Amino acid sequence: MDTFEVFKAAQKQGWAHFAPLEMVTMIPAAQLVKFSGVKPGQQVLDVACGTGVVAVTAARAGAKVTALDLTPELLERARFNSQTAAVEVDWHEGDVEKLPFKDATYDVVLSQFGHIFAPRPDLAISQMLRVLKPGGTIAFSTWPPDQMVGRMFRLTASYMPPPPPGVSPPTQWGEEDIIRERLGASVRDLKFARGSMHAPALSVPHYRTFTERTAGPLLKLVEALQTIDPAKLAAFRREYDTLAAEYFRENFMHQEYLMTRATKI
Ligand SMILES: C[S@@+](CC[C@H](N)C(=O)[O-])C[C@H]1O[C@@H](n2cnc3c(N)ncnc32)[C@H](O)[C@@H]1O
Repeated sequence: MDTFEVFKAAQKQGWAHFAPLEMVTMIPAAQLVKFSGVKPGQQVLDVACGTGVVAVTAARAGAKVTALDLTPELLERARFNSQTAAVEVDWHEGDVEKLPFKDATYDVVLSQFGHIFAPRPDLAISQMLRVLKPGGTIAFSTWPPDQMVGRMFRLTASYMPPPPPGVSPPTQWGEEDIIRERLGASVRDLKFARGSMHAPALSVPHYRTFTERTAGPLLKLVEALQTIDPAKLAAFRREYDTLAAEYFRENFMHQEYLMTRATKI
């Protein structure tokens, strides 16, 4: 396996326990579907769909939805979610860096906090644009590096060995200038908007404990440090709690995100 495949195999393991976090991500999913302007009858692709929060929301709005994710455990839950909602979604296990779909198939391509984890952003975005029809809409939600989740990703990365050469950090997708550059001349009418995801929590450590068991990067960090360096893990937890305390109000963690929308030329 090449370096990138090894990296993705680790990602797949890290995300396998993400399903309980759908209770938090289903609310911004509705915002992304609205922001992208999905209409009944449109062909929509949800990339890195997880348990299908965006896909099911778009299907409930009347779209014909296909969705893809790297992690089979999440797709199992996604199937349950679409059956429960009594909507059809065409689920696929796969990789955003090599989408198994024909050129110009979709009217709308969406990704919520998903395609940002592909190690090679240029490859991911060129695949998402390839399968989008000219005149179609690409829209995604990402984490700005100066807000809670972006800062938390950077903190987590600082306690881990550096990623293999050529792997870009997901927080770059939270910067408007970088997004503008990555979408480049392939799009027009680029728009940005901000949203806030409110995750319920009884205390900062309550939320951290929950995410240590569910969110890929945190779960991998705990796995790596708990036996070999518990003191380093304790230091990480102290830093995390200090950072997260800035965003904890009225039993919610307030997590600001960035939405991007553009039309393919
Ligand atoms: C933070 S979760 C977001 C899931 C979902 N979109 C949501 O909003 O709840 C990140 C997702 O990206 C998926 N993922 C990571 N790398 C991927 C890749 N290269 N191709 C497809 N999916 C990927 C993970 O399996 C995981 O489901």
